[in-house]
Amino acid sequence: MKVTFFDTKEYDRKAFEKYQGRDGLELKFYETRLCEDTAGLARGSDAVCVFVNDDVNAAVIDRLHGDGVRLIALRCAGYNNVDLTAAYGKIHVVRVPAYSPYAVAEHAMALLLCSVRRIHKAYNRTRDFNFSLNGLTGFDLHGKTVGVVGTGKIGRAFIDICRGFGMRILAYDTFPAELPDVRYVDLPTLFRESDVISLHCPLTPETVHMIDKNSIARMKKGVVILNTSRGALIDSEDLLNGIKERKIGAACLDVYEEESDLFFEDFSGHIMDDDTLARLMTMPNVLITSHQAFLTEEALSGIAQTTVKNIRDFFEKNEMENEVCYHCGRLEDCRKKRQKNCF
Ligand code: NAI
Repeated sequence: MKVTFFDTKEYDRKAFEKYQGRDGLELKFYETRLCEDTAGLARGSDAVCVFVNDDVNAAVIDRLHGDGVRLIALRCAGYNNVDLTAAYGKIHVVRVPAYSPYAVAEHAMALLLCSVRRIHKAYNRTRDFNFSLNGLTGFDLHGKTVGVVGTGKIGRAFIDICRGFGMRILAYDTFPAELPDVRYVDLPTLFRESDVISLHCPLTPETVHMIDKNSIARMKKGVVILNTSRGALIDSEDLLNGIKERKIGAACLDVYEEESDLFFEDFSGHIMDDDTLARLMTMPNVLITSHQAFLTEEALSGIAQTTVKNIRDFFEKNEMENEVCYHCGRLEDCRKKRQKNCF
């Protein structure tokens, strides 16, 4: 089984290293992203392994398919960067639906605490031996209302953390669950009543720009917005305007809608072309990390383990427990439908 990896960094290679050469697994790592120009690098491979910012569009899929690639193994949970309609009937797509939801949930809380207790400012100040407290006044999370959008694995882990902080918890999900101390409400209510809003739903045509000027208009003045899910859930221009108008108290972003050209790379010393991001960066109440929420030892090792299992299951057993497929409605007896995990 020859597998070509795209968009790899040293930490990816380290996590997958132990599988190299084991039981016929041949792994080839490229730093470059997968796109139309680089798809040819996978010629002769059985599978490609891609990450969140690889562009797996219809042309790329056709090229991979023409070159004999049979499997796209995503080493992440989200799959909005894959044209599933184009892949259907040509190449199977598998993903890692769960690794460490705690990694992302804990990062969301780390951003929130950093922001509301001004840790990022205090860190810089004390390194300059500036021990003044002026401008560092924060607020207690205890007793505040958090609105969680998407109560899947990560949303629930985040809710558990918030419960520990004594927060009142509102939630919105298209498939509500039974969760202790959680009140499910509609989105307008969640926007209206929350002091903190945290996004944990996938990026789909329905969720694109769910935070825009209309939803921001409904929110409390001083609301803190957390996004560790996908950048395009938020209209960045509208977010920026909400911050300029002093409506939004703080924004903590691990993802950004135009991140694919920037995140995971070092652009220090370069001139930033993205004016919206550059302006957001100048705001004292905006914290940005570059899609880092997943980056823990536990998550990386879980991702590698499931990815290798996905690849082996496909080539050795013709099984795809973690397949992502386009809703075709044509198969009589589909395992995904039987197991109720077809969307
Ligand atoms: P999950 O599949 O366990 O949960 C997603 C939840 O969102 C489900 O409960 C689903 O019913 C709900 N949902 C779907 N459509 C919705 C809608 N229109 N409105 C409200 N809720 C909706 O996924 P999981 O593992 O919790 O991951 C959530 C998201 O986190 C992923 O989609 C991914 O984009 C992001 N993520 C980010 C990472 C990072 O490093 N920043 C790492 C891993 C995931």
